[in-house]
Amino acid sequence: MDTVRLDTVVKDSFPTTPTLFIDFAGIRDTFRRFQAAFPGAAIDYAMKANANPTILSTVVGLGGGIEIASEPELNRALTAGAAGDAIICSHPIKQPPFLRRMHEVGVYAVTVDSIEEVEKVARYAPGMRVYVRLAVDNTGSVLPLAGKFGVDVATALSLLDRARDLGLQPIGTSFHVGSQCLNVQNWVNAIKACGEVWRTAAMRGHHLYFLDIGGGFPAGHYHDAAIPTIEAIGEAVMDAIAAHIPHTPDLLLALEPGRGLVGESGRLLTTVMGRALRGEQTWLYLDVGVFNGLMETFEGFPPVVELVADGTLERPMRTYTLAGPSCDSCDVVARNVELPEIHIGDRLVFYDTGAYTNEYAAAFNGFPIPEIVMLNLEANAFEQAVEELDLTALTA
Ligand SMILES: Cc1ncc(COP(=O)(O)O)c(C=O)c1O
Repeated sequence: MDTVRLDTVVKDSFPTTPTLFIDFAGIRDTFRRFQAAFPGAAIDYAMKANANPTILSTVVGLGGGIEIASEPELNRALTAGAAGDAIICSHPIKQPPFLRRMHEVGVYAVTVDSIEEVEKVARYAPGMRVYVRLAVDNTGSVLPLAGKFGVDVATALSLLDRARDLGLQPIGTSFHVGSQCLNVQNWVNAIKACGEVWRTAAMRGHHLYFLDIGGGFPAGHYHDAAIPTIEAIGEAVMDAIAAHIPHTPDLLLALEPGRGLVGESGRLLTTVMGRALRGEQTWLYLDVGVFNGLMETFEGFPPVVELVADGTLERPMRTYTLAGPSCDSCDVVARNVELPEIHIGDRLVFYDTGAYTNEYAAAFNGFPIPEIVMLNLEANAFEQAVEELDLTALTA
């Protein structure tokens, strides 16, 4: 296959940015890694990470399920070909019309974490399967989710009882260890807590079989070897299940990867619109920022960014502040970033941007959200060129 210089191709083929390249061949590979690391598990993609229809149908085609949070997400999952019973809802707060619709299309199960929600589910989705969300340790996650949702072991047990009293089918427990979880022990401790619930629930006559270990699987291994891999988490989780979950022949293990499935598949291409010296710091103004694609950097997610170099210039390294295009002073993507000397018009690429990029984005101030380009890296020279960019980064 001919090789093509990435800088030439991206400038010629994509004169406008921001552009978000999604490598769905990579998503397929990652999905298979989840399947191998968690044998027999239901892999229910948390579509909030990236609701692109091609990604959804790819997941469905590979036998995956979908985790949803709202009626529009339900409709998109169904349109992508997901069967009702391949869909779960792990959002603890649901509106009545959404509950009615999930009941109507046969969504497999929904989560609860309050008496009020148990009563709401019983009223609008009578007889539905429910699982209780536990509050678990989020220490060591880049974006902790603790505090807003989840209950302790004792409350979980009373919710299971109440659900049964109201004619619902209590089937198990779920949790979320926090997004981009770098601490494998969080899963182990959470599974231990589930075991406590399951044992006492059995004594109260419940039959629990659904163990949903949520999302939190991190992305970014290529650039940071300290980030735990899917395989390392799989090993720890399977051992923890053997150690702490009472033996259940019909155990159904479920995962809800969002970022872990699609994060590494995305590369966000952006153009430098401006440059200025402010005090000691050189600022670069990009055509993508906190509002129109890089919201997660505002939440403290450290970006991995590189120059798409043309290879003809020897460029000294410099330190920059990277800012988005809008007028808002909070639109700052990263500080103290080391990059080669950058000029207006240069292209930068942000890695691992397949999750929570366009889903969070709004065209504030009129700056457009990234255009999505789906890639299948075997397909043609352009795709090969993007692959080369990746390899350059890997070997740098
Ligand atoms: C209930 C639930 N499941 C799964 C996820 C996906 O998390 P992640 O992208 O960290 O895998 C989230 C994210 O907020 C969530 O709230």
